[in-house]
Amino acid sequence: MRTIIEPFRIRSVEPLRRTTREERERLLITAGYNLFQLRAEDILLDLLTDSGTSAMSTAQWAGIMRGDESYAGSESFYRLKRVVDDLTGFRHMVPTHQGRAAERILFAVMCRPGHVAPSNTHFDTTRANIEFNGAEAVDLPIPEAADTQARIPFKGNMDVEALERLIADKGAARIPLVMITVTNNSGGGQPVSMANIEAVRAVTSRHGIPLYLDACRFAENAWFIRRDEPGYGAMTPKQIAQKMFSLADGCTFSAKKDAFANIGGFLCANDDRIFEQETNLLILTEGFPTYGGLAGRDLEAIAVGLEEVLHPDYLEYRIASTAYLGRHIADRGVPIVEPPGGHAIYIDAGRMLPHIPREQFPGQALAVELYRHAGVRSVEIGSVMFGDKARFELLRLAIPRRVYTQSHIDYLVEAILEVNERKSSIRGLRIESEPPFLRHFTARFAPVSA
Ligand code: F0G
Repeated sequence: MRTIIEPFRIRSVEPLRRTTREERERLLITAGYNLFQLRAEDILLDLLTDSGTSAMSTAQWAGIMRGDESYAGSESFYRLKRVVDDLTGFRHMVPTHQGRAAERILFAVMCRPGHVAPSNTHFDTTRANIEFNGAEAVDLPIPEAADTQARIPFKGNMDVEALERLIADKGAARIPLVMITVTNNSGGGQPVSMANIEAVRAVTSRHGIPLYLDACRFAENAWFIRRDEPGYGAMTPKQIAQKMFSLADGCTFSAKKDAFANIGGFLCANDDRIFEQETNLLILTEGFPTYGGLAGRDLEAIAVGLEEVLHPDYLEYRIASTAYLGRHIADRGVPIVEPPGGHAIYIDAGRMLPHIPREQFPGQALAVELYRHAGVRSVEIGSVMFGDKARFELLRLAIPRRVYTQSHIDYLVEAILEVNERKSSIRGLRIESEPPFLRHFTARFAPVSA
């Protein structure tokens, strides 16, 4: 059979609340046309993020009941450690309350003013934590990534030649580590090939620079490798993931993505001396090394989730479901970042709404219109979020894991196509008030007059 189904059945449900267009218009005014300011109960489909929004399985909930809440030496820690050891092969692991806590500790230990930390593309929190420690965060995506319409596999890859040039230019001593983000979230959720990780590994080894993975979506990345990279079709996602991790010296991980957990993360390292410093910092701000700011039950949910996510039926469904959304809107004229990524579809709002200049925030205008029309919440990734530094005006539709069904996706497709049909009537927005930094969370907008 060719039909790909959700490989789970549902026995605990959460009702969705419908609102009328008039209600949504009022709610938008109250929220200052900023969807972060809406209450979740006023949203029908919430595609703000795939982070911490997964539905947990019966096995995860069973694990939660088994959680060992001992302050030191919790059994749940050792269960998680066994799973992480088997998957990653790294010598050391500490839990953290989420991904950015692992980043903060890693960069506090490794980065100094004058340092340069390259990545295929840093996620915002990664970049911010590097800069907070006085170092420079540099993105080295492959040149093809600059064209949202280019349909090439592994568009999340790092530009290896640019990395060589950077090392020659700055000197290896100023580069404390190289990071690879899998999948490349800020680059459209695009995967990174094994060949690319190997090539980066070869360069970093030659210069004695540690290589770290930002591994949030490692399983989705492994599925793309299996599907699209020659030589991997017969390997299991787990074997592919193990190989990815074996090429690195450590990783940061947000368990809120591919571990299906609602909170949590961890930091791994091979280097004993680095890890000792990391553990000392962890104790200072996160907690004792066998819980790292989490409850024992959270550690259980992560341990179970890490094994579930590598199931081929799940990954096939997951990637197919995101691609289904992407193809159904792109093939009817909505410009998306091609090809569809793993956890999200990114609409190129700048290209879709050419009549709205970037000073009037096409991505935000589209987010507002999609909510107004269909009660769907998405997130602008463009000039509202990044100001002058924005490379594109995108709208991200992130898909929470195991939460929405095919009919929800069909509803979403219909909503986007209807909005696309009368896109020329969508008006831009102007900022009425904004905070000094991270303005996308709290800025207030108003429609520009026609
Ligand atoms: N790295 C990547 C690639 C991420 O996508 C995120 C979070 C983090 C690190 C930080 O992890 O949230 O657990 O502290 N991304 C979320 C998103 C917030 O919506 O894309 P965290």
